[in-house]
Amino acid sequence: MILFDSTIYTARRNALMKAMGKGVLVFPGATEQPFNYKGNTYPFRQDSSFLYYFGHPQPGLTGIIDVDNGKAILVGDDAAIEDIVWIGPQLTMAERIHHIGADEHMPSADLAAWLKGKEVHYLPQHHADRIFYLAELLGKSTDEVKAGHSMNLVRAVIAQRSHKGSEEIEQMEHALHITHAIHSQINKSITPGKLEAHIRGVAEGVAFANQGRLAYQAICTVNGHTLHNNHYHRTLKHGDMLLCDIGAETMMSYAGDITRSYPVSPKFSTQQAEIYDLVLKAEMECIEAVKPGVRYLDIHLQAARIITDGLKDLGLMQGDTEEAVQAGAHALFFPHGLGHMIGLDVHDMEGLGEDNVGYDAETTRSKQFGTAYLRLAKKLEPGFVLTVEPGIYFIPELIDLWQKEGKFSDFICYNKLDPYRHFTGIRIEDNVLVTEKGQQILGPEIEKLRSEVER
Ligand code: GLY
Ligand code: MN
Repeated sequence: MILFDSTIYTARRNALMKAMGKGVLVFPGATEQPFNYKGNTYPFRQDSSFLYYFGHPQPGLTGIIDVDNGKAILVGDDAAIEDIVWIGPQLTMAERIHHIGADEHMPSADLAAWLKGKEVHYLPQHHADRIFYLAELLGKSTDEVKAGHSMNLVRAVIAQRSHKGSEEIEQMEHALHITHAIHSQINKSITPGKLEAHIRGVAEGVAFANQGRLAYQAICTVNGHTLHNNHYHRTLKHGDMLLCDIGAETMMSYAGDITRSYPVSPKFSTQQAEIYDLVLKAEMECIEAVKPGVRYLDIHLQAARIITDGLKDLGLMQGDTEEAVQAGAHALFFPHGLGHMIGLDVHDMEGLGEDNVGYDAETTRSKQFGTAYLRLAKKLEPGFVLTVEPGIYFIPELIDLWQKEGKFSDFICYNKLDPYRHFTGIRIEDNVLVTEKGQQILGPEIEKLRSEVER
């Protein structure tokens, strides 16, 4: 299945028309991007907002919602015989509009003239060629296009895409089934002597075999303290931990985002086990705290307090927990946010502006190291899907810097950190739906108890 029922797209567009009230909304689809030359491209990924309102996962299309006339128009051209020879039969434009309940189709060459004099709204664009495309279409400079996106449209699209429909939840469950298969296979594949690249290859293979692909660059590393480590050349050794932040996206482009941290030896060391259990406690308690009306910032701070309390028990931190967290001392060990929205994008709608998605007038972004990286902070609402992903890391460069600066020496026991210099990091992550009364972890259970990830 690559499209929902046409009524879904019609209802989504109608809701957006109602929210916008007037104007013409232009959604440029993505185009093929060259890997090294025009004919050898990266795997194609459709623009997520285009997918949301117009569904079709092929390049060369633009979606128009003409709010003023209550119409949806798909812009594009029927495949020429030369195209069909190389890429096979394609849906005609008439068939395409039928499948998504749109009203009309229009040849690409007619769009610029049709838009003349109209009140045009579009979202922020990230591909350079879409910026050039809009510039040509609207007779503007690329700088004008970059500055000219419509904040009304940004707000309306975020409000809509933030609340997942049942058809979307089903897709995200499917993404997590594939992701479950990935992590099960990973745990079976870990043995000392293998390269990280081997494990990443397993993940890619399982995703592909299930007609999916990875939703983002896999983090599959024995150096889990490098938060977005995208290198895979290290060899797994006894005593290492392998942090795998790996999620699949479905054929319909819905994402899963799951982190598990595995021992390379069959069992964790005592030191690793203590930190593992602490991260798991933070993860599970923070999941329990997810419910409508709670600010995600407050759940992030709850994670920080749990981590601080646990590190105090281990003798690595000291002092009053609340004061330590308020000051930001925990961020030496937990320097990122607790999580983010997820959906058609792994960091859902981040292309529309992280602050526009995760913050509002009531909840503004902290400037403090660590909490400043929190992508979602505002009050939760039913239908949001988000990640809960606390972690504890020992980053030698950061420890050395803060120690040299004497930073938070009331709270951090620097003299106890030497045995942890090569600890690396542990993160555990699940994807959670906010329900009317509380929350639901999406997908099949992906083993995370220490006894389950140990072999
Ligand atoms: N999956 C990587 C991240 O959430 O940043
Ligand atoms: Mn994540």
